[in-house]
Amino acid sequence: MKSLLTILALLLAAGLRAQPAARSLSPAAGRFVFGPATTLAADRELLPLARYAAPYLGCRVEERRTADGAVVLLLDPTLDLPAEGYALDIAPERILLRAPSPGGVFNGLQQLFRLLPAEVYACRGLEAGTSVACCRIDDAPRFAYRGMMLDLARTWIDAPALKRYIDLLSYHNINKLHLHLSDDEGWRIEIRSHPELAAVGGFRGGDSPVRPVYGKWDEKYGGYFTQDEMRSLIDYAALRNIEIIPEIDLPGHSRCIASVRPEIRCNYPPDTVSTNGYDYRSAWCVAREENYALLDDILGELCALFPSEYIHVGGDEVETSQWERCPDCRALMRRRGLADAHALEDLFMERVAAILARHGKRPAVWNEAAKSGRLGREARVYGWESVRASLDATAKGYATVVMPGESFYFDMRQSPEEDGHDWAGIFDARKTYGFDPAGCGFTPEQMKHVIGLQGAFFSEAYISHDPERPDYLDYMTFPRICALARIAWSGNEQGWEAYRRELTDAHYDRMAAMGIRFRLFPPRLEVRDAMMHLSTDDGSELWQVADGGAPERYRGPVPAAEAPRMRFFSRRATARSPYVAGRSYYRTIAPEVAITTSMGESRRFPYANAERYRGLSRTTRACRQGDWVLYTFAQPVRCREMFLQTGNRQLPKTIITTGRVEVSYDGRTFHPAGELRQGSATLHPDRAVRAVRIVSTCDDNGTPYVTIQPPRIKPAL
Ligand code: ACM
Ligand code: ZN
Repeated sequence: MKSLLTILALLLAAGLRAQPAARSLSPAAGRFVFGPATTLAADRELLPLARYAAPYLGCRVEERRTADGAVVLLLDPTLDLPAEGYALDIAPERILLRAPSPGGVFNGLQQLFRLLPAEVYACRGLEAGTSVACCRIDDAPRFAYRGMMLDLARTWIDAPALKRYIDLLSYHNINKLHLHLSDDEGWRIEIRSHPELAAVGGFRGGDSPVRPVYGKWDEKYGGYFTQDEMRSLIDYAALRNIEIIPEIDLPGHSRCIASVRPEIRCNYPPDTVSTNGYDYRSAWCVAREENYALLDDILGELCALFPSEYIHVGGDEVETSQWERCPDCRALMRRRGLADAHALEDLFMERVAAILARHGKRPAVWNEAAKSGRLGREARVYGWESVRASLDATAKGYATVVMPGESFYFDMRQSPEEDGHDWAGIFDARKTYGFDPAGCGFTPEQMKHVIGLQGAFFSEAYISHDPERPDYLDYMTFPRICALARIAWSGNEQGWEAYRRELTDAHYDRMAAMGIRFRLFPPRLEVRDAMMHLSTDDGSELWQVADGGAPERYRGPVPAAEAPRMRFFSRRATARSPYVAGRSYYRTIAPEVAITTSMGESRRFPYANAERYRGLSRTTRACRQGDWVLYTFAQPVRCREMFLQTGNRQLPKTIITTGRVEVSYDGRTFHPAGELRQGSATLHPDRAVRAVRIVSTCDDNGTPYVTIQPPRIKPAL
């Protein structure tokens, strides 16, 4: 501990704000100066890495083992370092980077980049005369597995966007990219023996048998990787020391493939609820022998395509009621003497593990699949549900990736008023940084089975945030990934305050040069002497925006009387903070309202829920053109804003896909008041409102009901 703190002190003294913090650093006299003659020298095996680094450093590449005035990359298997470790020697005459593996060389290159001005990431070459202080760094990661998961099923991310993201991860020494390639809403990888899986299952909505569930309802939406495209991504990532681990989520989360190949489902008639052909059944039948032949085809191709030792086969959140209703699954349970349907998942996973073994691979699974302990110990477990799930998996002896959603699901909101989910928690980078498996109750024996940490971005909500642009993905995942990368590389002994300083003083500039539209921590808002005072210590610009106005630079304290209509935020280069506002900005009123619709009323979720402003209510069926929801107020309501929403907050499904809003001031005549956008509309009435009405202009919203939310009404000022 003491020696680590000494090293950190040395790092800071030397002006070397390493990210991740290095294990040992010895400053030395002098500087290495980059100039037009500086070259990158490497032997044949490392030439690809030298070519990778060349545009960043603006150097020519030479094939030779050493040279003066050069950055020399050297593989040295005799170095006493873990495979991904490196030794970086910066002397006035040359920079020598040695490592036992190309991965170690890559990590050392990233360390060298972090010692240089942030512009290195812009890939325009270094300005002549750029120099770096001499030192010797010996470094190696704390965990061999430092991962990130992207859900490509709910929101499609194409090859250029994925390559960009791979670059961003690689700058942070993340070395595993887990791709969630299938789920209920999409199938994202070509299977040559069954081309329909991707060609049909890669697209939902329109004439596809895969019904739309999240976003883009009114267009056929999706995409998939051909195997050739994926091979190119695998190579792209591998050069950057990132292994791609594919996931096909089995046996649940399989509604997409079950829509394309309905025969894989259990043997009972389709659900008969009025759903416009929609079918919730989402699991593979365990008893159907042909399913394992299909899985052998699918997994066999993935095993051939992906070099990773592990293939992730899911195992989470299996809806076992389908097996309980299936005569074939029930007969199988009787034959095998299985006590309950959960044992069927063990049986299914055993079969899948055997398929993988035949193809020379091991299974990786979500923690539920390892709960019974029946799965062989060659499996790798991803503990997502809780810390307890990882404690359990390690106690059973499984190699475990620790990733409890409450600290590592980066699709969760970062503060209560921001976008994102909240079911696993609301947290920012500080919580991620604060995670320490050593403080979670793992015994030393269990710790031996913790192979690393992983972040995750499930993308149900991304689809409604313009996935064509990286903003939402960047904002949700950075700087939380930075914190993850840091603790996975070297732990968090540095302490949050020091780490946050390091982010703001050094890493923000780097992320800006990388082109990341990251999230700034919110500026501080204080009320003193009836004035709102805004401040920040992260070097960002402060802004204010009044409802209905354009953002303006913050020029000083604002009267507290403005609080109900004023929000603030900060900006710095590519980054911005969330809005901050006084409590009165969020104040709402709850006037008495009656809700009626043409779509029937769910008995379980009656409209009274929404009328009493207590939460969700539902119709009994999907909407058709002309269907309506009417909100009638007991008294005329004067307000500055009325927000009407169908569907769930942040989860753009169960909405009225397209529709218009009408407002009535007398309770009889209705006037057009705009179109629904993602199932919702915001009105700014200039008169007291008696009633508002949403009228559907779509047929079939893709789900068997519409969710009605309480209106959110801000009082007139
Ligand atoms: C998961 O979040 N269902 C792995
Ligand atoms: Zn079955």
